[in-house]
Order: sequence, then structure tokens, then C-alpha cells
Amino acid sequence: MFERILIASGPTLEAIDPVRFLSNRSSGLTGFHLAGVARERGLGPITFVTGPTAFRPQGVELVPVESAQEMGAAMRARFAEAAVTIMAAAVSDYRSLKYYPEKLKKSGERIVLELVKNPDILLDLGRRKGPGQLLVGFAAETEDIFANAQRKLEAKRLDLLVLNEVTADNPAFGDVENQVYLVRPDGVRRLERMGKAGVAAAVWDEIASLAGRSG
Ligand code: CTP
Repeated sequence: MFERILIASGPTLEAIDPVRFLSNRSSGLTGFHLAGVARERGLGPITFVTGPTAFRPQGVELVPVESAQEMGAAMRARFAEAAVTIMAAAVSDYRSLKYYPEKLKKSGERIVLELVKNPDILLDLGRRKGPGQLLVGFAAETEDIFANAQRKLEAKRLDLLVLNEVTADNPAFGDVENQVYLVRPDGVRRLERMGKAGVAAAVWDEIASLAGRSG
């Protein structure tokens, strides 16, 4: 039983003007199942910070957000209380430098939209992590997947990284199944391709093993 579980899920949505935005294909299904499994197993109270998605789990404290900046603020405000934090959200890496308060009118054949980087929420949480807190991240890689995963694990001070190898057969985003690797500082475990509920169950098994070892 954990004192509190904090999960970030879904895409973020970065507004450009009152009717347009930048986002990505995250369905929020993995985060939804992570909350569902934690609830079924009675692992502790869950705070669920989610970008816009249809998948909203029951029996959680639901914190709907839109942009990466809002998600970052919501996660930082709740992080210190969380024994386990999982960043399963697909945070938009960039947002429009400018928000246009009036709907943009069409103009020339080409226009340029300037983008600015969003803060890395997980990196920031890693820096704030205290003793006894477990931090889990996700990564999507297409090349040098294990070297990149190890780098991220160290840079973001993660206890566990759920690594998606993104290929034509395993798109990860928007699919109901996924094949992932569970990467820990002390080794890598390959999971078979399975439904995302199965992936969520395996992630929680791994977290339980990490928690047992540290506590
Ligand atoms: N993440 C985050 N804040 C961001 C971007 C990503 O918290 N601004 C989190 C995601 O929730 C996920 C992990 O970081 O848990 C993904 O890390 P990232 O390095 O962005 O992975 P990739 O999407 O694989 O990106 P890249 O290889 O392009 O760096």
C-alpha cells in the first residue's frame, strides 16, 4: 500500500489561437489502465492528472489539464506527497511561442509558426525526488533504444523506464496493444506484445518489486 500514487496521462494540448492547437496521438489508454490496476489491487489513493482524452478512470482524484505548462504545475504541486509517480503522459515537446487571442486568418501560401520548447516535467520531478519516492517514466525510441533508455534513466533519476520501440508493427501510440521493455538501473526485461492492461499490470509488478527492495 502506497501513501499516494500520482499518474500523468494522455496528450497535452498546446493552443495556438481560440480554435487551433498542437497535440499528438496519445490515447491515454496506458495511463487509464495504470490507474485501473492500482485501484483493483488497492495499492493506495490515486491522483490522476490528465490531458484531454476520453479515458477517465473511476475512483481517482481527477485533475484535468490542457497544456504541458498546466500539467507541470499540477504534477509539481502534488509530487512531494506521492510515494509512486508515473509520467505516462505524452507531453508536447514544443508549444507555439505566441498565443493568438484572435482566430488566425488565412494569408499567404506558406506561413511560419514559431515553436518554443516546453519544460521537461519528468526531469524536474527527478531533481526533486526524495528518499523513498519511486519515479517511473516512459520513452519512445526508434534507434539505439537501450543506450538512449539508459541515458534517460540516469538523466531523469528514474527507478523504472517503460521503453517503447516504435516500429511499423509496434506504433505504441493509438494502438490497443504494445510491446515494451522495462528498463531499470540494474537491468532490462522484455515483455511480450500484449494489451495495454497487461502492460499496466506488469509495470505495477515491477514497481512492487522495486518498493519491496527499497523498503
Ligand atoms: N516528458 C515530460 N515532459 C516533457 C517531455 C516528456 O515529463 N516536456 C516525459 C514523458 O511523460 C515520458 C518521458 O518524459 O515519461 C519521455 O521522455 P522524452 O525524453 O521526451 O522521450 P521521448 O518522447 O522518447 O523523446 P526524445 O527522444 O525526443 O527526447
